[in-house]
Amino acid sequence: MAGMSLVQMAAMQVYRSKAIAKLLFGIDFPALGPQDYYFDISTHVVVSEVKKRIGPANHLLDLGTGSFAVIGLSLAKKAGCKVTCADLNPELAASSRRNIALNKSDIEVVDSDLFSNVKVPFDVVTFNPPYLPSSAGKDLGIESRPAQWDGGDDGMRAVRPFLKAVAERGNAVTAYLAMNTLFVKNDQVRALVAKEPGLEYVETIRCMLLPIELHVLRNKRASKSA
Ligand SMILES: C[S@@+](CC[C@H](N)C(=O)[O-])C[C@H]1O[C@@H](n2cnc3c(N)ncnc32)[C@H](O)[C@@H]1O
Repeated sequence: MAGMSLVQMAAMQVYRSKAIAKLLFGIDFPALGPQDYYFDISTHVVVSEVKKRIGPANHLLDLGTGSFAVIGLSLAKKAGCKVTCADLNPELAASSRRNIALNKSDIEVVDSDLFSNVKVPFDVVTFNPPYLPSSAGKDLGIESRPAQWDGGDDGMRAVRPFLKAVAERGNAVTAYLAMNTLFVKNDQVRALVAKEPGLEYVETIRCMLLPIELHVLRNKRASKSA
C-alpha cells in the first residue's frame, strides 16, 4: 500500500472495521486477515440502492460475491429477496460460504465465471466488479488478490463479458453494475452497452457523496415482459 494517500489509508481503516461493516450491512463478520477488508467504496451503494428496488418476489444473483457474501446476505435481510451468490475465485467463494454459515443463512454460493455454473432462474443481478485499471493499482502499491480489484488496462476487463452474458441470458434480467467514476466514466459504460443489441440502458443511479455510479441495465427480454 506504499503509494496510498492519507485519505486512502483512512478509507482502508473504514473498510477493515467490523463495527462499521456490521452497522452498514446488518450482518455478522469474522475477524480479518492482515490484507483483507470487509467491503469497498461501492458495496454499500449497491446495497442501499438495490434494496429500495427489489423485494420478496425477486431472485437476486450476487455476482462476484467476494470474501463475505456481503451484498447477498445483506439484501436477503433488508429486501427479503431470494439470493444466490457466485464468484470466479474458489478461495473467495469458500470464504463466503463460511460467512453465510456464520450468519446462519442457507444461501448457496456457486463457483462460477459469470453465469456459467448458475442454474437458478435469477431475475436481478448485482455486480461490483474489479474496476481499478492495472496501472492505478500498481501506483497505489496494491499487490494482493488482483481478482478483487484488477480491471485490466481500462478497468473494463470484467465488464465487457458481463454485459454480453446479461444480453444473452434466456430470461428477463435487470442488472445493477457498480463503477467508480474516478476510474471508469459513464460514457465508457454506455458505449459498451450500445454495442450489445440485446441490452437496454435504463438509468444511472448516482451517489451524492461518493464517486460511485450504479448502471441499471435490462436485457431486451426484460423490456418486453415489463
Ligand atoms: C470488487 S470485488 C467485490 C466483492 C463484494 N461483492 C463487494 O461488493 O464488496 C469483485 C469480485 O468479483 C469477482 N469476479 C471477478 N470476475 C468475475 C467473474 N467473471 N465471474 C464471477 N466473479 C468474478 C472477484 O473474484 C471478486 O470477488
